[in-house]
Amino acid sequence: MPKKHRVLVVDDEESITYLVKTELEDLPEFEVDTALSGSDAINLIQSKVYDVVLLDVKMPRIGGVEVLKYIKEHAPTTQVIILTNVVDVKTAIETTKLGAYDYVSKPYETAELLATVRRALEHKTLVIDKEVNQLGRPDELIGECRVFKDVVNKAMKLASSEAFVLIQGASGTGKELFARLVHQHSTRKDQPFIAVNCAAMPDQLLESELFGHEKGSFTSAIKTKQGLVEVADGGTLFLDEVGDISITTQPKLLRFLETGEFRRVGGTSSRTVDVRVVSATNKNLQEEVKASRFREDLLYRLNVVSLRLPDLKERKEDIPLLVENFLSRKTKTKHLSPEAFQVLMSYDWPGNVRELEHVIEGAVALSHSDSIETKDLWMNVALNVQSSAASTPLPLPAAEKLMKIDELEKVYIEQALKHHRWNRVKTAATLGITPKTLYLKIKRYKIQVPTMDSPDE
Ligand SMILES: Nc1ncnc2c1ncn2[C@@H]1O[C@H](COP(=O)(O)OP(=O)(O)OP(=O)(O)O)[C@@H](O)[C@H]1O
Ligand SMILES: [Mg+2]
Repeated sequence: MPKKHRVLVVDDEESITYLVKTELEDLPEFEVDTALSGSDAINLIQSKVYDVVLLDVKMPRIGGVEVLKYIKEHAPTTQVIILTNVVDVKTAIETTKLGAYDYVSKPYETAELLATVRRALEHKTLVIDKEVNQLGRPDELIGECRVFKDVVNKAMKLASSEAFVLIQGASGTGKELFARLVHQHSTRKDQPFIAVNCAAMPDQLLESELFGHEKGSFTSAIKTKQGLVEVADGGTLFLDEVGDISITTQPKLLRFLETGEFRRVGGTSSRTVDVRVVSATNKNLQEEVKASRFREDLLYRLNVVSLRLPDLKERKEDIPLLVENFLSRKTKTKHLSPEAFQVLMSYDWPGNVRELEHVIEGAVALSHSDSIETKDLWMNVALNVQSSAASTPLPLPAAEKLMKIDELEKVYIEQALKHHRWNRVKTAATLGITPKTLYLKIKRYKIQVPTMDSPDE
């Protein structure tokens, strides 16, 4: 059963609120609350997220315009439809300038009212898509081998349940694609899918992104902001890199996951939303728990069911299919030479599918003829071919842990040297520099070379 649309009807005439409520609730998709005054309305809006508010303009004390302004500031994605008397149409038009979606004049036609509500709901989805811009194209998950198919089938099966899902897998294995897959096959598929990258932000920012903040709650909080949990209401909240949430923010997230309740930063009232949480991490959370960096109770909450994505090297039989797909996205004529293909098959792919995708894209751009050769593959395959000693991958860390070019060069040279068993001539040739340059770099980076004086010089 998909989530119902939440509607609030505000009018000081009880006969009106009663009528609208009964008419809308005749339809299975609506759930309607009513308020008989502006202040009642504001109280309700503080504690609940509405999709649409039907709002009378003329009410004693707090009128519709004030309520409208309040909504626009505190719940900007809620759509407001003004209910107005025929004589009042001018005011109604003015309210659309203040952000009301539309107006309906009283006495209204049920069909007209309903059509306006439905358009407002559509508009809301559009606004959310545009503002949050998290709904990507429904990418296709490519892979035919058993290990991969098993995970896809499991994901499809659990998608329709409401269970929280934890997706674990190395970088580039497709965690985000799986999160979308779960959403797209759930009963929430027509509701928002909102992705939050928990690693990309410092604590306070993450909290205010998730839960929103009230104006003035911290220096840069110039405007009240809705939290992403509110935007995701009714849909799926994707907590990406969840293993990177700091230990201080974890209890707040846990409380929210347990109750669906949260408070905006600097806010006084608590609100409730209904979201299904799918999270992903490339960390081993059990290890993180042991090291006291991740709360066990939080892991338990997030991990009702888990999906473990295989590394690309565990499913090398899918490489041809993946290559074919990535090639066809970029070119109609280019193809891989058999040697280049062999190279792709024998590489270890520390960056998994993402790395493969990039290598193919790069190769299409680099190759001069229709045949893509080994030299067009820009990862240094020589380091990994038939070598387990050198298969310690070049680190592909998260953005904030990226190395300086110098450090990267040092690590890279060390790996190349190890691969060639410290033979500097061969290493220099692989790296495309002269032995002398290599020698200078070894000195500069203070690389410990066991056989520095080996006879190959
Ligand atoms: N099975 C697959 N089929 C097709 N494309 C895939 C597949 N798996 C991953 N990709 C592609 O690889 C790239 C990385 O995928 P995604 O972002 O889902 O990985 P991730 O596990 O979230 O990585 P990270 O931990 O680095 O965030 C994307 O461009 C995605 O389209
Ligand atoms: Mg990701």
